Amino acid sequence: MTNKNIIKVGTFFSGIGSPEKALERLKNEGVIKDYEVEFFSEIDKNAIKSYCAIHNVDESLNLGSITDIKGNDLPYCDLWVGGFPCQDISCAGKMRSFNFESSTRSSLGWEMIRLLREVNIKPKYVIFENVAMITSKKFKDTLNLFKEDLMSLGYTLYDELLSATDYEIPQTRTRYFLVAILGDNKRFRFPDKIENNAMLKDLLEEEVDEKYYLTDSNYIEKDNKRIFKHKNRDDIEYEVDMYKYFNGGVCGVDKHTKFAISSRLFSIYGNSPTLTASNTSDNSKIVIESEEK
Ligand SMILES: C[S@@+](CC[C@H](N)C(=O)[O-])C[C@H]1O[C@@H](n2cnc3c(N)ncnc32)[C@H](O)[C@@H]1O
Repeated sequence: MTNKNIIKVGTFFSGIGSPEKALERLKNEGVIKDYEVEFFSEIDKNAIKSYCAIHNVDESLNLGSITDIKGNDLPYCDLWVGGFPCQDISCAGKMRSFNFESSTRSSLGWEMIRLLREVNIKPKYVIFENVAMITSKKFKDTLNLFKEDLMSLGYTLYDELLSATDYEIPQTRTRYFLVAILGDNKRFRFPDKIENNAMLKDLLEEEVDEKYYLTDSNYIEKDNKRIFKHKNRDDIEYEVDMYKYFNGGVCGVDKHTKFAISSRLFSIYGNSPTLTASNTSDNSKIVIESEEK
């Protein structure tokens, strides 16, 4: 992408606008001259409010549900981005698929293909993002049809699974990225991995409200483990393996929790688990110990 022009951008399934935040960073780093949000498309009222506050734009830029947008009404953009809903693809959901005819939330991704057919001037670049599971055997055929449609619209495609931990973000989060560039044989390379030692500890805030703490600092020592009791409930204990704690990763369990993922306790010397969307119950627990490494 050129660094001489102002990049006109439109996003779908915009959420709080992380692609826009990435453009802001590229601008601050002098990689691009500037960018302008031409429109965004979101239906969640809290996300819309957050988006406008974060990016300092008016709600009138929100086109609402993608299903109501007509391609030939859209202003020209150089770049479209759409991280379409993953609920029906993710292993955290029922994996009902994103087939064109399925009417699942994840099948809304096809609406961007419809808009690419309808729009007066196609964007030069389109980026799609979704969970890694989209590349699994179960969804491969649908993904291939999606890619074939994009190619038939004149785009050269590149796709890759990228892990946040390879880019200095201490969160275990692998996502699928599909980059479509208008024209034949267009060249593109995903950014090289960055060797890094980023850990959750680097991002945690110093001042955190008491309500976010599950335990106080009292514990009992047992077999190289520390057992913490829930602040208000005697029947809940958190068992922390101190060796694992200081070496990062999963360092213990909350035996009270039914689901494997929410029973895990994460060390600040490793990565955060994948932070889930607001409509799923995220019970991530991070062990904070005052003792230094
Ligand atoms: C996976 S999230 C995308 C998050 C986004 N990439 C971000 O940076 O925050 C999918 C978003 O699609 C939105 N969404 C769901 N159905 C939609 C629709 N019909 N039209 C527009 N947005 C929709 C959801 O509210 C959710 O915020």
